[in-house]
Amino acid sequence: MQRATPQDFSRVLSSMCTKPHPVAREAAERFLATNPGDPGTYETVAKLERQAVAKLGEIAGLEDAAGYISSGGTEANIQAVRIGRNRKSTRNPNFVAPASAHFSFHKAADVLGVEMRVAPLDDYTANLDGVAELIDEDTVLVVGIAGTTEYGRVDPIPRLARMAKEVDALMHVDAAWGGFVLPFTHHEWDFSDADIDTMTIDPHKMGQAAVPAGGLLARGPELLDELSIDTPYLESTSQVTLTGTRSGAGVASAAAVMNELWPDGYREQYETSQSNADWLAAELHTRDIDHVDPTLPIVAMDLAPETIAALREEGWRISPTEAGEARIVMMPHVTRETLRGFLADVDRLR
Ligand SMILES: Cc1ncc(COP(=O)(O)O)c(C=O)c1O
Repeated sequence: MQRATPQDFSRVLSSMCTKPHPVAREAAERFLATNPGDPGTYETVAKLERQAVAKLGEIAGLEDAAGYISSGGTEANIQAVRIGRNRKSTRNPNFVAPASAHFSFHKAADVLGVEMRVAPLDDYTANLDGVAELIDEDTVLVVGIAGTTEYGRVDPIPRLARMAKEVDALMHVDAAWGGFVLPFTHHEWDFSDADIDTMTIDPHKMGQAAVPAGGLLARGPELLDELSIDTPYLESTSQVTLTGTRSGAGVASAAAVMNELWPDGYREQYETSQSNADWLAAELHTRDIDHVDPTLPIVAMDLAPETIAALREEGWRISPTEAGEARIVMMPHVTRETLRGFLADVDRLR
């Protein structure tokens, strides 16, 4: 049988994954045969996970962070809803999230039997009056997005957090993608800006770790304890994760790459990505192509469905937003050269 090779990244424009950084790749390979799900047996990778969580805490303004490296943002979001549900005793739990929330929250609602209430948006971020109307005494969690999947927008996190506290609900921030770019911006999004309880922040997106490496942070161990299950036949006695056996490769790669890149390497990447986004927006402007302004390094542009289809025929891996715009996420592999090539094809095909 022929040896399969994965896709290369040269025309991948809409993915939130990227080529792992060389130190991430090396660490992932070294720790392939480890299972942080059993920290009593796999002690070294368990120690790396503690280091990775501490580093994520540093990035997100949280001292003495509790948390773990998850399989991705989906698991972290499901677990945040689960913490909220388990912590507050109510017969009909609900959580409130803006319409921009990632579809993983719908999975959380389905799996956990918690009602998801979807708040309307104003200029791509949560409409606060809309959120206020949906919150009630049965609300266990309020979600704010710090870097939305489609447009890279940041919800008013401090105000959402205050609204959550009024009904004794937890405040969860989904910074799965944004967490590695927001520290270099003026946005209020982290634990030092607001009374936040839990956060999703994924090393395997802008953090440049190998997949799978998501991140769940909690303000303190008592919140994580809401997830605790006894584990009779392992060397350790309890587990808070959703999955059992987990990827030590993801954990080790996250620890290694954050050690290598935080903060200067990530700052440089943010500056490059943002300047590419601004450059592309300016180029679209000169061509009269409508686009959504990139507050963070994501650009969504109006292209006809036929043009998007023709670009895909040319090998560009580009996916539309729910509203039909073509969306480019300025991941580290998306360079100015990539964008020039893409624009040349847009000019030829539209
Ligand atoms: C804001 C946000 N949250 C959560 C997720 C889900 O992450 P994953 O695909 O790693 O499960 C994504 C994925 O793109 C995302 O953009």
